[in-house]
Amino acid sequence: MATKSKKPPVAVDKLTETQAKVELVRLALEIERHNEAYYNEDAPKISDAAYDELRKRSDAIEARFPGLVTRDSPSQKVGAAPSGRFAKVPHAVPMLSLGNAFTDEDVTDFVDRVRRFLKLGENDIPAIVAEPKIDGLSLSLRYEHGELVRGATRGDGFAGEDVTANVRTIADIPHKLKGRNIPAVCEIRGEVYMLKKDFLALNKRQAEAEDTVFANPRNSAAGSLRQKDVSVTASRPLKFFAYTWGEMSEMPAKTQFKMIEWIEKAGFVTNPLTTLCDSVDEVLKFYRKIETQRAKLGYDIDGVVYKVDRLDWQERLGFVSRSPRWAIAHKFAAEQATTVLNDIEIQVGRTGALTPVAKLAPVTVGGVVVQNATLHNEDYIKGIGNDGQPIREGVDIRVGDTVVVQRAGDVIPQIVSVVMDNRPRDAQPYKFPTVCPACGSHAVREEDPKTGRPDSVRRCTNTLACPAQAKERLKHFVARNAFDIDGLGDKQIEEFFTDGLVMSPVDIFTLEKRDGRSQKKLADREGYGATSVRNLFAAIEARRTIALARFIFALGIRHIGEGNAKLLARHYGTVEAFRAAMIAAGAGDDSEAYRDLNGIEGVGTVVANALVEFFKEPHSVKAVDDLLGEISVQPAEKAKTDSPIAGKIVVFTGSLEKFTRDEAKATAERLGAKASGSVSKKTDYVVAGPGAGSKLAEANKLGVKVLTEDEWLALVGGA
Ligand code: IVH
Repeated sequence: MATKSKKPPVAVDKLTETQAKVELVRLALEIERHNEAYYNEDAPKISDAAYDELRKRSDAIEARFPGLVTRDSPSQKVGAAPSGRFAKVPHAVPMLSLGNAFTDEDVTDFVDRVRRFLKLGENDIPAIVAEPKIDGLSLSLRYEHGELVRGATRGDGFAGEDVTANVRTIADIPHKLKGRNIPAVCEIRGEVYMLKKDFLALNKRQAEAEDTVFANPRNSAAGSLRQKDVSVTASRPLKFFAYTWGEMSEMPAKTQFKMIEWIEKAGFVTNPLTTLCDSVDEVLKFYRKIETQRAKLGYDIDGVVYKVDRLDWQERLGFVSRSPRWAIAHKFAAEQATTVLNDIEIQVGRTGALTPVAKLAPVTVGGVVVQNATLHNEDYIKGIGNDGQPIREGVDIRVGDTVVVQRAGDVIPQIVSVVMDNRPRDAQPYKFPTVCPACGSHAVREEDPKTGRPDSVRRCTNTLACPAQAKERLKHFVARNAFDIDGLGDKQIEEFFTDGLVMSPVDIFTLEKRDGRSQKKLADREGYGATSVRNLFAAIEARRTIALARFIFALGIRHIGEGNAKLLARHYGTVEAFRAAMIAAGAGDDSEAYRDLNGIEGVGTVVANALVEFFKEPHSVKAVDDLLGEISVQPAEKAKTDSPIAGKIVVFTGSLEKFTRDEAKATAERLGAKASGSVSKKTDYVVAGPGAGSKLAEANKLGVKVLTEDEWLALVGGA
């Protein structure tokens, strides 16, 4: 429930009709607001469990006073109306919602209802298909004569958003259906989602680039799909499970289970856990099995779905308001718990960002003991979102508060709401420090050039000597995507830094030489032995040679994630050229070096300025030079600028026969071109193999030059 109301709500069976009417209007408005935040802004303001509570209360009041149900009631609507960002497309068959079951009894009731409706005998149990309920966003894919012609989101169930170009970039979605006898019209529906590991990696990249960070894999999938720039969607690791259908000109099977098998044969990924059950017991066993497997699945689910198997029975059962009578979602209990916020600790990151961490009275959430939760930033504590709008009803978080902690999958636990009734009388608004807790320097919020508002992050200004930043930079330096030194992780860096053994990257490479000089030998330290030290030194030796892109990334410069590091490496080729260019670019925006840097495709002013700032600092240049005295950096293969396709945008389509798509893309990139997944006015060449469909048509429409595979080979010189 929302945390604002002080009084506990009146029990539904005690409400007068007038109270019920007022309450229904209030609930409808509140639910609508949350629908908007969830579906159109991809930024829910309350937990799923709190949302379900609102819906449950509204449904319960309506069940008691059926005369108060109106067309605007949440029970009569699905999702939110399309946002207007994309063209609106009507659904030939509406995309409806599912009723919820929360207890075993609710499930037994569901099966009883089905049995009564169909007038089945006492011992006639309808076969039921049970499958995980994927926590993503639903999508409808229309195929005509086997060709993908339209992809649409659910929207309000009757009309969604046209995301055709975006869905074409998702590998799990076939552009052409497989097999013979494909019905002329086929609408396949399912869920777009993101693997938890992909979500975490994406968020890491986004945070490095100081771009939008998503709250969970679902929002991340929704935000990634609904991008105006299709190349952004293409760069996001989206996946798709097919589990139902919309309009079908013919039905290839007679049961739900056989339909799923057919959908899979047609080229889709269906959920491998989908099971045909013969009794309520089996259904509930499935639920418990999936509940225990939940954390290991790799993707988020929020329950399981049961569907009557026979399609003729589904048809007879039909719908009640906006949900089918033949299906129900059995939801998992939310992974939330209530505990006390004992303290707020400020951590200082590699780029000086001050991040508040909630220190909690230990509490078990979804089977894991949680003691720390992220509080994101200063505004989040105040109850203000990234967009300046109030979150959590605008309630701030104070030390001493009783808070609701949520753990969703592998995501870092977060505080979703405050139990205001438990707020201690003397609880004070939290004062976010304005000086760095590690070095005492000023910590400031720069202005975000995009919004003109103060950046959500407060940063320590002492880049040079703040010990916390230096230590975090070292952790980044040895991380897996950077120098990746076996046996030298966060824990060892923490220890070596505190003891003054490793204070800057070069110290790692002189560690062996210095061993035992000023402190006792590493092998004699607690937790080390001769073998582990030998292995550590060998691992360090093995990294004395490193690729340029990794080297650049390892420096930990603001805004330079792995992607930008690769672009820079490919552009400059050698570490010497890179170093010289960065220093030269410091001469000013009008210097040739700066213009060259800023002109690299994918490198904008923010990135260019971050590099210039870093290399303007003599201390940084010294750290780089000291390091270069100990290691050798391998040159990168430079992107060609003299090839016939340098700077061009190429799209490969159809089933290529003379080379694989990956080979073709690699050739294009090696020769300085960019391989893209979709055709636009900016495309220079479309290379079309046999069976090319809509991309070829689009190229012809836009007048983009189309090449056969042979013509492409001739152009790139058989490369
Ligand atoms: S079947 C008539 N199966 O849950 C409704 N839905 O709450 C047919 N969902 O809009 C939907 N996994 O976005 C179905 N295995 C599954 C699902 C699933 C996730 C979503 C879907 C739907 C929502 C309903």
